[in-house]
Amino acid sequence: MSKRHFHLLQQSRALRANFAQSMVFLRRFAGAPRRIGSVTPSSPYLTRAMLDKVDWAKTRSVAELGAGTGVFTRAIVRRMSPGTKLLVFEVDPELQRMIADEHLDISLYGDARELPKIVRGHGLDGLDCVISSLPFTVLPSEVTQDILDAVCEVLKPEGRFVAYQYSKIMKGSFEKRFERMRTSFVLRNIPPAFVYDCTGPQREDSESEGRR
Ligand SMILES: C[S@@+](CC[C@H](N)C(=O)[O-])C[C@H]1O[C@@H](n2cnc3c(N)ncnc32)[C@H](O)[C@@H]1O
Repeated sequence: MSKRHFHLLQQSRALRANFAQSMVFLRRFAGAPRRIGSVTPSSPYLTRAMLDKVDWAKTRSVAELGAGTGVFTRAIVRRMSPGTKLLVFEVDPELQRMIADEHLDISLYGDARELPKIVRGHGLDGLDCVISSLPFTVLPSEVTQDILDAVCEVLKPEGRFVAYQYSKIMKGSFEKRFERMRTSFVLRNIPPAFVYDCTGPQREDSESEGRR
């Protein structure tokens, strides 16, 4: 087989795999729109905008919340330094199976609210980074609140929280929970998304904030 044919074959395999994953995602969305929160996996542009915020050479422990079909997981595995501890959370059983099939030895869990328990279980004193794709604005407000509490509990003082959202609704909540926050916008995604890059986690409980 010529080099060109091999390349074309590889491209068509990748396209088919992407299409199949998008179809699974869409089907899961149809079954639980408020939990999945999006009709299609994140674009490579959003993936890059999110993961470029992290200094991977210095990151030794990271959690990914809401892995979906694993578009970020794949890129995180490629970028992280050898020996980095990665904890992946995905609550949907079929999507979780897809991740497990692709990454045989990954530390994979369900509900992101379990984050503190899982971090302790791994004997870690905290995380350097949390990457979130969770649809905070459509999840039940107490779930959103519990997850943000959990994130602030497990992040090291110099730790980083990177999250994308399709609106600015969560901006105030993130600002209250982190000392510093930068926002950017990624147009090339369906739908376009805001990326929140937050550092300086605040631990005190902000009872009423964010509860809708
Ligand atoms: C918008 S999708 C993002 C998927 C993927 N990371 C991406 O960017 O394409 C959000 C994902 O969060 C998952 N999810 C929702 N609530 C969750 C929870 N409490 N714990 C873990 N995952 C959750 C959903 O099942 C869904 O796969």
